[in-house]
Amino acid sequence: MGKKNAFPILIEGLKKMEYRGYDSAGICVGHNNDLMLAKKKGRVVELEKDFLNEYGVCSLDGSCEKRYELKEIKGGMGIAHTRWATHGEPNETNAHPHFDCKKEIAVVHNGIIENYNALKEILEKEGHIFVSKTDTEVISHLVEKFYQGNIEEAAIKAIKLIEGTFGLAIICKKENKIIVARRGSPVVLGVGENENIVASDVVAILPHTKRVIYLNDNEMAVLMQDGYAVKNLDGQNVEKNIEEIKWAAEEIEKGGYKHFMLKEIFEQPKAVENTLRGRIDEDNNVKLSLDIDFSNLKRIIIAACGTSWHSALIGKYLIEKSANLPVEVDYASEFRYRNPIVGPDDLLLVISQSGETADVLAALREAKQKGAKTLGIINVVGSTIAREVDSGIYLHAGPEIGVASTKAFSCQVTALLLLALFLAQKRGVKIDKEIFVELKNLPKKIEETLKNSDKIILLADKFKDAKNFLYLGRGMNFPVALEGALKLKEISYIHAEGYPAAEMKHGPIALVDSNMPVVFVATKDNTYSKILSNMEEIRARGGQIIAITNEVSQDIQRLSQNIIAVPRCAEELSPIINTIPLQILAYHIADKKNLDVDKPKNLAKSVTVE
Ligand code: M6R
Repeated sequence: MGKKNAFPILIEGLKKMEYRGYDSAGICVGHNNDLMLAKKKGRVVELEKDFLNEYGVCSLDGSCEKRYELKEIKGGMGIAHTRWATHGEPNETNAHPHFDCKKEIAVVHNGIIENYNALKEILEKEGHIFVSKTDTEVISHLVEKFYQGNIEEAAIKAIKLIEGTFGLAIICKKENKIIVARRGSPVVLGVGENENIVASDVVAILPHTKRVIYLNDNEMAVLMQDGYAVKNLDGQNVEKNIEEIKWAAEEIEKGGYKHFMLKEIFEQPKAVENTLRGRIDEDNNVKLSLDIDFSNLKRIIIAACGTSWHSALIGKYLIEKSANLPVEVDYASEFRYRNPIVGPDDLLLVISQSGETADVLAALREAKQKGAKTLGIINVVGSTIAREVDSGIYLHAGPEIGVASTKAFSCQVTALLLLALFLAQKRGVKIDKEIFVELKNLPKKIEETLKNSDKIILLADKFKDAKNFLYLGRGMNFPVALEGALKLKEISYIHAEGYPAAEMKHGPIALVDSNMPVVFVATKDNTYSKILSNMEEIRARGGQIIAITNEVSQDIQRLSQNIIAVPRCAEELSPIINTIPLQILAYHIADKKNLDVDKPKNLAKSVTVE
């Protein structure tokens, strides 16, 4: 909202936000008492192409008869959305923005309106005509119902009736204002010079301003030409601090790499260095400023999703081994719905790159409500989870844009090891000081590991047409197998399973034949000889073994023609070193298949709906 033409700002903003959802996109700009609309199934570039081809923007006055050319669009007020479908298939009709019957009010919305069916029924009885299959459309009709010349008042009345989650923006062609509100879905307000920009992620705001205000649940903001006001949902003003985003604008660009995922894989030495920075002092004490009383702590429960859940599994090994404290790991989505037994002697640790994953947030709130202490390992500063935990450890990994998480994983495991050592210190458990030497060398070892890239590209070529993959590992490297399999399936669409290597005999071995590549994480630890036996078992059944190892022994050479050698490191760090080749393998397989690595189908970077 401001004096500049909103249209190009919105298109650029959508491109930055696209990693959050990309099955359809839409824009609505208000100008000269008209709303101009463009929607398209597919990516933002498809939407943009229409304008470049002078297809123009459809005016909502006169049922899209009138089309504006790009040069005619000059409005300084606009909203836009790139969608990850929840209700209604991805198509042009279901793309946001959604309108009221008179096409005077436009709404974009993240989240889920849980009572939309009931509201829709009432509104339809009152004569409202719905055109889409989305839950969002009820918001536009509700605002229309209450609109009597004041969009802010109408929005407040509508919001009071909706149940569920929302991060939403509303405009009305008769007023020069944008109303935004949040409950459960992020909304950030960027405060610029003579303009204010709202988005669900700071990446869309960063090119315009670094000064932001994070809305809390049940807060709204009114953006006007000459300013903004933050209010509660009763319309009373709320005092908010303006915070400064620390990321540099270049960090959200590809910087010469073909994909963000590749860039982020290669950023891992720096990212891990940033996670470690200032957290180990000269006397090898881990320094974490955590505002939590650990004295009567009996147990840690870690809740997370996806890749963050895999780091949580590694965290269990690390904390139990170093700090001698029991740890349970839960899928955040399961934790919340099984009435977990947690209380004041427990610490709920949530791990989330985005800090916005809805299931993780719900688990956090559940545990807090039951009196547990809470701690977060989070990347995105100012995210909802970061603001709701009692205390936290930021990763400082920089923005992660590729949908497949890479550098966040390495930094999460690093942060978990720091936490494990910190807890060991607190609990008086002896620490082998060699681990600090290893930790300080970790960025260099990651760099060394990345040098394997060319060899892995050849393997990607060899195995890119496989239909299935099996990933096997033991101990701390079992979660690495899970992570390797997740990376491959989410970006290459090849079916892959991760399994504890010894468990494979209890079922999955039935799948093994000469068409099955089996990736073994076989680095030297106390299970090394056992894992060699597991490799023999696969070899005996004709499986093609890819071995990640730091011990290129005769045995390994006999068992596998596809060896990826990684540097030796402490067992605690091996999950980081061993995951890197698996990220590179998945990346190159997907790239060789010409797939959209950064935006795999059906996925979104932050899953802000339950
Ligand atoms: O932002 P979060 O760490 O909470 O996200 C959790 C998962 O959605 C995420 O790790 C997802 O599994 C990635 N696509 C994995 O690469």
